[in-house]
Parts: sequence; C-alpha cells; structure tokens
Amino acid sequence: MTPFSTQIMPVSAAAIQHAALLLSRGEVVAFPTETVYGLGANALDEGAVRRIFDAKGRPSDNPLIVHIAERSGLQPLVSLVPPEAEPLMRAFWPGPLTLILPKSARVPEVVTAGLDTVAVRMPAHEAARALIRAAGVPIAAPSANRSGRPSPTAARHVFEDMDGRIPLILDGGACRWGVESTVLDLTADPPVLLRPGGVTLEALRLHLPNLRVDSAVLSPLDAGAQARSPGLKHRHYAPDARVLVVRGDPAAVRAKIASLYDEAQANDVRAAILCPSRFAPLYGDRNVLPLGGDESEMAAHLFETLRALDRQGFSLALAEAAATEGMGLALMNRLLRAADFEWIGADMAP
Ligand code: TXA
Ligand code: MG
Repeated sequence: MTPFSTQIMPVSAAAIQHAALLLSRGEVVAFPTETVYGLGANALDEGAVRRIFDAKGRPSDNPLIVHIAERSGLQPLVSLVPPEAEPLMRAFWPGPLTLILPKSARVPEVVTAGLDTVAVRMPAHEAARALIRAAGVPIAAPSANRSGRPSPTAARHVFEDMDGRIPLILDGGACRWGVESTVLDLTADPPVLLRPGGVTLEALRLHLPNLRVDSAVLSPLDAGAQARSPGLKHRHYAPDARVLVVRGDPAAVRAKIASLYDEAQANDVRAAILCPSRFAPLYGDRNVLPLGGDESEMAAHLFETLRALDRQGFSLALAEAAATEGMGLALMNRLLRAADFEWIGADMAP
C-alpha cells in the first residue's frame, strides 16, 4: 500500500468536490454519516473497493454496504425490490436503515464478498449525500475503523486508525447516532434483523410484524449465523482492555461491580466502570466512565468511551447491562460484542 499523508478537511463545498475527485480516481476517502464515519470508494470500481479492504485490514469475506443519495440509485444495484421494502424506504430513508436485497450483475463480487445479495443504505447526513451526488456513483463504505476496533464517531478516531493509509478525511463533527445502521435482511422469509441500530426493532415491527431477530444479536455465534451475515463471525468493537458485562437485578449489579472493581484494584489491575450517568455517584471514588442519560445517548457515546479506555490505560472495564428495548438493543449488542460475549450474573460467584 502506498503511504499517504492523510489530510483532514472540514466539510465544505470545496472539500466535497476534492473528495469526489479522489473517488473518481479510485482512491478511498473517509466521510461522516449520521451513524459512524464511513470509508468510501466507488462501488462500481473493483480496484477501488479492494483498497477499502487493504486500508481497513478487513477480511475479504465480509461484504460492504453500498450508499446511495436518491431512490433512483437503488434500481441499478438490485434485481428486485420486494413489496415490503417500499413502506420501509418511505418511513426510514434517508436514515440509519440498511436493507439486504437481491443483487444485480452491476455490483462487483468484491463488494458483496461473493454473496448474491447486496446491502443498500441511503444516509441522512447531508455531507454524505452531497459526496455521493458529486461522485455520481454509488459509494461502498464500511465503518472507517481498522478491522476489529470500535467504529469511529469523530474525525480524530478515523485519523487514529487510518493516518498514512488514506489521502483524505472529511470532518463533519460528531455523529448523531454513534452506532452503525440497523441491518435488515429482506431476502429471508420471514425477514431478519441482523444488526440493531438507530431504527429500532419496535419501529420495524410496525411494518413487519413477523420480523425475527438473529440469534447472534445477543448471544455468541451459532453455526448458522456465520452464513447469514459473514461480518458477525469477526471479533468487533474490541478495545485492548478486557470488557465484562454484569447482568441481573440493578442493585445486585452495582454491588457486584463494586466488589469486582475492588478485587481488581487489590491485584493492581486498573479498572473502570461503564454505567448510566445517574448511577455514577453510587460508585463513590472509583473510576467511572458515564455513558449518558438514556440508552440512545449511551449508545452514541459507547465507541468513544471504548477508545478512551485504552488511551487512559485501563485494562478492565466493568459494564452494567442495559435493558434491550428501543435503542437498548443496539447498545447491548455492541457492548456484548466488545466484551466478546463475556458476561456474569450479579448473583453468580466469580
Ligand atoms: O451505519 C453504517 O451502516 C456504517 C456507515 C458507514 O454507513 N457502515 C457500516 O458498515 O457499519 P460495516 O461494513 O462496518 O458493516 C456492515 C455490516 C457487516 O456486518 C456486514 O457483514 C453486513 O453489514 N453485510 C453487508 N452486506 C451484507 C449482505 N449482503 N448480507 C448480509 N450482511 C451483509
Ligand atoms: Mg464496521
């Protein structure tokens, strides 16, 4: 890979034109979306898409999402738009919902990792859509982190992971949702939620009452899950620190976390506690990284907090489990994956 000196440009009309020029030359550019930062390339240029995999260190069996700016961008990418897709697109596009649909022959195999389906999303972020329009092509983009690291929710996170690997990062400030889009497989019958995100399960069920949740959302991978979404089998969102999720009755969870923390400290292990802001005072003078007031705010701050753990030299994070309603499902999914599904019940002996 050619080493780049990576430039960070605040979003402006000129910066978007510059980014579009780089994309037209087959380069890879990082850009903001309302979920997380993406690492984009021309989805119809096989060589450009390969550069995404190189820059991320991403296994080539993990397919990418193709981003479009208008509804007219969808038709060329798919061989069929199933009737249940229409109300979903009307309700949630542009926005944090990715639809898995049967692919057309135009989408290169490298984008879909050889699958006969393609993931498509229309982002709500104005800079993302301006970039897609300026490029005049659909943009394939995974999250702009090095493979396995927490997804970037600010331009400086992209720089931490991608300095020297890509020519340009468009800086649009902090991402609104802070977790990746909801991924919904409409080629399965009944449809399956593969990854929870900003569009909640409850909101989707108003349109798809028979929607199933993939078992890999809240539990370690079973044998079948790998085939359903190849991305699920790779370790994700992992800081260097060990993350342990504590589940159970709220009062018992807090007592358990306090005792695990004190035990770690007695063994010279630097620990931090991840919890809702309102419970931080209950932990006294222990190190607490409060995530926010509600599940939505907590999800938005999770990835930057996982990065902060490593920067601040913590080697253990003890996290309170969240309820899995609304945005809590996306929060628990990312937390459990960061923990490599390591959890303990508050009433369990260590
Ligand atoms: O919010 C987002 O979705 C961000 C922004 C940049 O748009 N992108 C993102 O991409 O999170 P990535 O590559 O980090 O995650 C895409 C997920 C992976 O788990 C991948 O396996 C899955 O979508 N995926 C992509 N194409 C698929 C397909 N055809 N079938 C099943 N899963 C697919
Ligand atoms: Mg990712």
